[in-house]
Amino acid sequence: MVREIVASAPGKVNLHLGVGEARADGYHDLVSVFHAVDRRETVRLAVVGEPGAGPVVESMRTTFFVDRPGEDIDGPKNLAWRAVEAVAARAGVALPKVRIEVDKRVFVAGGMAGGSADAAAALVAANALAAEYGAALPPEALHEFAASLGADVPFALAGGTALGTGRGDELAPMLSRGRLHWVFVNPKIGIPTGEAFSLLDDLRHTNPALVPHLNTAELSQALTAGDATRVAAALHNDLEAPALQMRPVLRGLLEAAGEAGRRAVVSGSGPTVAVLCDDAEHARWAAEHLAAEFDGAEVFVAEGPDGGAVVERVC
Ligand code: C5P
Repeated sequence: MVREIVASAPGKVNLHLGVGEARADGYHDLVSVFHAVDRRETVRLAVVGEPGAGPVVESMRTTFFVDRPGEDIDGPKNLAWRAVEAVAARAGVALPKVRIEVDKRVFVAGGMAGGSADAAAALVAANALAAEYGAALPPEALHEFAASLGADVPFALAGGTALGTGRGDELAPMLSRGRLHWVFVNPKIGIPTGEAFSLLDDLRHTNPALVPHLNTAELSQALTAGDATRVAAALHNDLEAPALQMRPVLRGLLEAAGEAGRRAVVSGSGPTVAVLCDDAEHARWAAEHLAAEFDGAEVFVAEGPDGGAVVERVC
């Protein structure tokens, strides 16, 4: 019988993040261009018991290849834990108890959707476990669970480059040619996502320049043409203004990153800064340069687009 299932899912950067109106459900309508990068989270389900009734997750352990957060994240509230239980409950057959082991390579609370990637990888891993017991769920069910776990989880499932509307969870794949080479710099000055969105609402009352940017036509054409110079010029994030207001030190990093690379933007709600470079060598150079200049920041290079959540191994 199956002993272990390993799955992975990508981190992301928003090439465009346009924030529209606040909605009644506490979310905002978005027009987002998501781009998956080859910095991936790994989720392993290790079978530790026989099939039986009740919860399937026995325990969880995260190994950090980035800086660990102050608090313990290995509990039933973790999105990966909730993803496995959701699939198991819907599967409708007895599944064996599992231990979840996460290898974390995407910054924690950095604006790159690392937690969402854990959830997406856990969903496909749990579905592979259900399949071993003849109870695999259809892709629509996984997408539905993904959207219920968080606005960024459906994209972590899908990967590639995609237009996200609604809360960001209604996805349409986008054409893109060529590879984009990135450096990601996390200055570790935590920005709570919900606070960034609500500060943007406040700032819009007094600053008429902060209109929602909902047009992605130029970016879309630049991606289709595979023209990195045009992609760089078209990068945009409506959440950059609240991020800079909340954490003014981010401005210096953004400026230095923009000089080291071709263009720098805040990733998602931040505080990670994404730096688009000309090629892999330029990215390596910019990474070394920024790591030296911003002592204490975490830095890695990555390329995109990369694939979505996938089962790597069943044994
Ligand atoms: O989906 P997730 O839990 O990552 O979102 C965290 C918070 O970010 C939400 O509670 C909400 O305040 C804000 N958010 C938003 N509109 C979105 C996505 C997130 O206002 N489309």
